[in-house]
Amino acid sequence: MKALLCGKGGSGKSTLTALIARSLSDRGCNVLVIDNDESNFGLHRQMGLELPDDLLNFLGGKKNLVEKMMEAFPKGEKLTLFDHKWEIPTIPEAYVSRKGNLSLMAVGKIHEFGEGCACPMGALAKQLIQNIDIGKDDFVLVDTEAGIEHFGRGVEEGCDILFMVVDPSYESIRLSEKISELADNAGKQLYYILNRAEGAGKEILCCGIPDDRVISTVPIHESVFKAGLLGDEFQASVPEVDLIADFLVGLKSK
Ligand SMILES: Nc1ncnc2c1ncn2[C@@H]1O[C@H](COP(=O)(O)OP(=O)(O)OP(=O)(O)O)[C@@H](O)[C@H]1O
Ligand SMILES: [Mg+2]
Repeated sequence: MKALLCGKGGSGKSTLTALIARSLSDRGCNVLVIDNDESNFGLHRQMGLELPDDLLNFLGGKKNLVEKMMEAFPKGEKLTLFDHKWEIPTIPEAYVSRKGNLSLMAVGKIHEFGEGCACPMGALAKQLIQNIDIGKDDFVLVDTEAGIEHFGRGVEEGCDILFMVVDPSYESIRLSEKISELADNAGKQLYYILNRAEGAGKEILCCGIPDDRVISTVPIHESVFKAGLLGDEFQASVPEVDLIADFLVGLKSK
């Protein structure tokens, strides 16, 4: 099962990715997290893992990938970045951090001033997700950058299910309408996680988001907030996040 988390900036995508990964791995599942956010550097810390080398370097770096794209696209040729399928245990070691049954890959980060846009990362993420063959107890969780550019790049194509993380803000509610449309276009099932939803914020969110698609409503957890702020690994499990893991395990066994 390959799931992608998306949503507005700061809604809690990375936090929930790390917590869901932990919850799934606690039940004995193999979990590969793909960090597909070119800007942020917090996810690996929340998972208690080292940040692996950018997968872009496996392909000779960003410049090299841009050249391949420039060669293929004007001729209408298909860009093929992998010559064989990968499985979680056989991912080249430099590009994966591991701890027990948890693994983490990073597609690529922006490192230098003027290095160019993140389009190559999008092209690579799309093919990477499609290129990973997973076993029956395996999960892939993709953490995305804020907003909807990844939909434009087709990153969702290889995913089985999409989660939108919705925080209590007007922008999130509006964005949920656009993401619902984009998920339909992509032919993917979309579910919602209401995050930091408490009191009046929770009530307003519940009116704005289709009820039957909400998998979990996660309140503000002091311990999560504190670990996030300090860049510490999440230690305790979160019951509302366990519901999301239950849902994924349940879907897989259908
Ligand atoms: N349920 C929660 N309880 C407490 N704090 C939370 C919760 N969810 C997220 N946070 C905090 O909110 C902030 C934003 O979360 P996070 O970085 O996961 O968002 P994001 O959507 O990944 O952001 P970005 O768009 O920048 O990647 C962090 O400081 C995180 O610790
Ligand atoms: Mg994030």
